[in-house]
Amino acid sequence: MSGHAPVLLGPSLEGLRVMAGGRYLDGTFGGGGHTRAILDAAAPDGTVLALDADPAAVARAETLAGEPAYRGRLTAVHANFSALADVAAAHGATPLDGVLLDLGMSSFQLDTAERGFAFRLEGPLDMRFDSSRGTPAATLVNDLDTDELATILFRYGDESRSRRIARAIVAARDRAPITTTGALAAVIDAAVGGRRGAPTHPATRSFQALRIAVNDELAVLHAALDGAVAALGPGGRLAVIAFHSLEDRIVKRFIAERSATCLCPPEMPVCTCDAQPALRKVGGSIRAGEAERLANPRSRSATLRVAARTENPAPALDHRYGPDGDAGAGEGWR
Ligand SMILES: C[S@@+](CC[C@H](N)C(=O)[O-])C[C@H]1O[C@@H](n2cnc3c(N)ncnc32)[C@H](O)[C@@H]1O
Repeated sequence: MSGHAPVLLGPSLEGLRVMAGGRYLDGTFGGGGHTRAILDAAAPDGTVLALDADPAAVARAETLAGEPAYRGRLTAVHANFSALADVAAAHGATPLDGVLLDLGMSSFQLDTAERGFAFRLEGPLDMRFDSSRGTPAATLVNDLDTDELATILFRYGDESRSRRIARAIVAARDRAPITTTGALAAVIDAAVGGRRGAPTHPATRSFQALRIAVNDELAVLHAALDGAVAALGPGGRLAVIAFHSLEDRIVKRFIAERSATCLCPPEMPVCTCDAQPALRKVGGSIRAGEAERLANPRSRSATLRVAARTENPAPALDHRYGPDGDAGAGEGWR
């Protein structure tokens, strides 16, 4: 199994303005590339609270925490990042100097057939970041009706052939339940494939859509952004790396809304709202340069956005997700 090459590493560290003695939260530990670099840049006494929903990633974080250079400076927690404000407070890590979210799945997950993320590897149709809770993709694929399936594929995969694929899935599962990645990929290929030389596999968008639905990714992202604003101290930095337009749009809008210095309707001649923005946008979107794109194809779809926490009070947490940040329901698509 290969490792995971961290994307936009330099720009992330710059965006976070990592400094010695700082307190950071990495909400997506994965293979630990970003965490390790933050710890190195924050040496000798900077700390990282590292979260991941995947127990396998948390085990890697615990191993890293045992390395002499990081002993006492890295705490690993098995948690969904939607609960990051509560987790940070419970570990006495607030106010934070920086929060990093590097969204999506790691190469470890993609390359492990049993996790069910890859249509190119035969495995159970799972796709949960945290396979100890929630609903696997096979349940959605075998239980939802045609309309519900088409909605997921269209909304989260921007799949223009969502109806045709949904109908093919329902017809196929009437013959036998669809329980593996290979079986689902074959159904989609038979329904809409056939373009030789197409740059992407016909199941690419459907697999992305199901993964987003299974993990309720857009709802937990909203909650994490709110949590970051609550947990950051004045001047603290928020850095988010998104891999598709749905999540990047959420990050972009969130930063724009929380940075707005006036929330009056456009027809108001003068500002009367006295908006107190909790964030200040830092620069524009950052994409990988040519060299990184060549060396790491994953970086081609990555967009980094950065914001700084102001001194103004944080708005109330209105995206708190589930009783303990649990992403188990997986029903945000309804
Ligand atoms: C792209 S990888 C992070 C890679 C990491 N920055 C590195 O350098 O190795 C994303 C990680 O975030 C985790 N993840 C995704 N959604 C999550 C969530 N809602 N809460 C916690 N972890 C999540 C995944 O399990 C995965 O390990």
